[in-house]
Amino acid sequence: MVNIILLGPPGAGKGTQARLLVERRNMVQLSTGDMLRDAKASGSPMGRRVAEVMDRGELVSDEIVIGLIGEKLAAGGGGYIFDGFPRTLAQADALARLLERVGQRLTAVIEMRVDDAALLARITGRYTCGNCGEVYHDVTRPTAVPGVCDVCGSTDLRRRADDTEESLKQRLLEYYKKTSPLVGYYYATGDLVTVDGLGEIEAVAAEIAAVLEGQGD
Ligand code: AP5
Repeated sequence: MVNIILLGPPGAGKGTQARLLVERRNMVQLSTGDMLRDAKASGSPMGRRVAEVMDRGELVSDEIVIGLIGEKLAAGGGGYIFDGFPRTLAQADALARLLERVGQRLTAVIEMRVDDAALLARITGRYTCGNCGEVYHDVTRPTAVPGVCDVCGSTDLRRRADDTEESLKQRLLEYYKKTSPLVGYYYATGDLVTVDGLGEIEAVAAEIAAVLEGQGD
């Protein structure tokens, strides 16, 4: 089974590409950001604990996110897209152990490279469907009918609490301080492939498809 990590700063397009891979290759998206937002919305004790941390743009504890991913992997399957996980070296080590435990291995780590100016424009223009999770953008990917999701017809279109310029600054700081060392880590393991995340959505999808070509999915 093909198992990949999409690695990149906030707004690099990880979620957008993960959804395309789910649709086109029947892969399974494991987004720790989505899992944490679900916990937050449910009002569970864990959700209440992580809400403020997320809104400030800081990272949630390794223990919590490793636990969330561990639960998903224990359920069995494969063909995973790790979206937004791992984000620290401790999470990367934990992922290696968790995959080994279920008899899976990483196929590739795809680093999506996008410069900071483009990230700001992407993050501040983003909105998503509250019903099906489809991701849109005011300029680059608006809904066909204003206010109505193209995929499910819902009118529940939302902006994320952490999609502000101030929170993005903190999220970028966290990315460069704690997550970007993973680029070197996966270069050393021989798993790293870098794609140009600045192109149009379909151009980036084609680059990722080329990486997966011949990987036996
Ligand atoms: P998370 O939800 O993972 O957010 P993120 O990493 O900041 O990434 P984003 O979802 O903001 O961006 P994306 O790369 O998916 O971009 P998208 O495709 O939407 O995490 C949120 C928070 O949860 C974290 O800050 C942290 O607190 C916590 N957390 C999550 N995981 C954690 C972990 N492992 N450890 C600790 N804490 C964790 O695209 C963005 C916009 O750009 C969209 O509008 C889209 O339409 C547009 N777009 C996409 N691609 C293109 C393109 N090629 N050209 C033009 N526009 C594009």
